[in-house]
Amino acid sequence: MKKNAYHKNQLNILHFLKVIAIIVISRSKKGLKHQMRLIMINSCRSGMKLARSIYNSNGTVLVGSGVLLTDRMIDRLRNMKVFHLYIEDPDTVDILIDDIISEKTRQEAMTFIHTSFEAFREDPKKFRQVFTAEKMGLRVRDMLNHLVDELKQNKNAMNLLGSICGVDSYVFVHSFNVTIYAISIGLRMGLPEKQIIELGVGAILHDIGKMMIPLHILNKPSRLTDEEYQIVKTHTTLGFDVLRQHDDIPLLAAHCAFQHHERLDGTGYPRQLTEPDIHPYAKIMAVCDVFDALTSYRVYRKPMLPHDATELLFAGSGSQYCQRVLESFRNSVAIYPIGLGVKLNTGESGVVIRNNQSVLARPVIRILENEAKEKITPYELDLSIELNVMISESEALG
Ligand SMILES: [Fe+2]
Repeated sequence: MKKNAYHKNQLNILHFLKVIAIIVISRSKKGLKHQMRLIMINSCRSGMKLARSIYNSNGTVLVGSGVLLTDRMIDRLRNMKVFHLYIEDPDTVDILIDDIISEKTRQEAMTFIHTSFEAFREDPKKFRQVFTAEKMGLRVRDMLNHLVDELKQNKNAMNLLGSICGVDSYVFVHSFNVTIYAISIGLRMGLPEKQIIELGVGAILHDIGKMMIPLHILNKPSRLTDEEYQIVKTHTTLGFDVLRQHDDIPLLAAHCAFQHHERLDGTGYPRQLTEPDIHPYAKIMAVCDVFDALTSYRVYRKPMLPHDATELLFAGSGSQYCQRVLESFRNSVAIYPIGLGVKLNTGESGVVIRNNQSVLARPVIRILENEAKEKITPYELDLSIELNVMISESEALG
């Protein structure tokens, strides 16, 4: 399948505009002063200072932290479907958020995803050649080892925002995010290193079959018709058929591509497998895949914040998704990201400043405004102690 010139041009432009999800780890470090707050792009004003860099899909910085945002930049970010961003904010001192993955490893991963996926798009046979000639099998293992090492050092919950991404680069960014989530779950479940690498290879390539789906369907700016949806569904078998023929790729990784849309109750596709026949890796993949989809921008809806997406997944616990996987996931991801503005049932509002590692659903809030929306002397409220206080709204949801 040869790409035509139009698609090639379109891809080049899209590549430039791709923005990768910012996945960051929260770490409170006493004594360090770092102010940031998570806000919606619509609340962003010219002159605000960006507190977290925004990356493109090659893993390079598109807009660096510390940059003073202009109206033009804000417009451009909005066009790239960036919904939330971190800005520096004097009300939230002593909050430090580090990147969970180093720039080098992020870039290594994104370059691999680009090269292999694009080779696959041009011709699955070429993908096999490229994969063998460039010793991709070794490269992907190397890169996954780096990811695993960095994720292992992460003792706290991941403070992520899958919603900060460009819609056009969805498959690439999605593959990267799913890999990070899958490895984190694998580590949390105590899987041996060999299995974690296998799971990582499966995660990074699980959607590669999408490269054989026509671009006008893949990038369609509206809901798919039934017929188009049937075509998209074939990405599972298409990916499996190519991956399983490759000696460098573990067969179980190929099964991640094949089974990641299967559901425990048999309502998934392509084979309507039920719980005992679905491989444990594919059960992990299903949770990561749906979570990333829900927290990413879609033409027909805004991205969900992690706590809403987690709740939705838990509604399918045992019927669609494996409960043990969901629990490991919930224990790895900060469902209330640090810096998120929240409103409480007491009428007060503030910002999430810390996660309680044992109860991630009950973070510590810095209260900034009283019920009359008046600024007050900030104080901290630990929701793991104040059990009657609930989070009723998140500011970033808008
Ligand atoms: Fe998929």
